[in-house]
Amino acid sequence: APTAVVIVAAGSGTRLGYGMPKALVPLAGAPLLLHALRGVVGAGVARQICVAVPPGDSDLGGLCRSFAEEFGVDAPVITVVEGGATRADSVRSALAALAPGTGHVLVHDAARPLTPADVFARVAEALDRGARAVIPAVPVVDTIKSTAPTEGEASAIAGEIVTGTAVREQLRAVQTPQGFDAATLLGAHEQAARWPAEQAAGITDDAMLVESLGTPVYVVPGDLRSLKITTPMDLHLAETLLATAGA
Ligand code: CTP
Ligand code: MG
Repeated sequence: APTAVVIVAAGSGTRLGYGMPKALVPLAGAPLLLHALRGVVGAGVARQICVAVPPGDSDLGGLCRSFAEEFGVDAPVITVVEGGATRADSVRSALAALAPGTGHVLVHDAARPLTPADVFARVAEALDRGARAVIPAVPVVDTIKSTAPTEGEASAIAGEIVTGTAVREQLRAVQTPQGFDAATLLGAHEQAARWPAEQAAGITDDAMLVESLGTPVYVVPGDLRSLKITTPMDLHLAETLLATAGA
């Protein structure tokens, strides 16, 4: 069954602070979304690419259409949909626009412009081997602790206090593309659409929705170059990677 790639590009990029949707912000002269589109097409896994752009956007939709014109008849079909207020809403809009009969879906962030083709291939292979959900991930370098706001006398010392330390060897930093059996992902998003707002606000990736259904989520190696551009420092790093190596 054909594979589709969803690219979520409907975020505002508040933390990057460029005053424009993050997917439009230039990296080495080209918008982040263009890098992501080239990466997906280069990976050769998709029959359809569905891009969620900000509501009311024209620039990113236009970028998708001119990108599509570069390719011939065998190229993936590129569909553009309006995203929503949250990332999960944007994924849901894109899922509704997938061609009937789509078997596997990879959900990818436009904010990850340098994801190597190998990562797409590893995710797609795990789906071919029967996984219903698979995520790329890398080991965590920092020690990760949970904290809580201080109360009473303790609040005169500092604002937060440690409540626990996770076992670092078991922790992974999760990237995209995250791959799913299409029906599994659709079902997970349909369920999450009914969650109360405060629970829905805590959705940071697609896999956690599938986890909540009890479906096993497999992990394959990600890649440090598949960093998510969130802050200006990330953009500097990506510029350097592109300038110095075949990133
Ligand atoms: N995204 C989306 N729709 C939203 C929010 C986010 O499609 N309503 C996408 C972003 O475009 C990005 C990915 O989800 O490709 C990861 O989100 P994030 O890094 O948080 O991007 P932004 O939401 O744009 O950034 P910020 O949170 O700093 O505003
Ligand atoms: Mg965001």
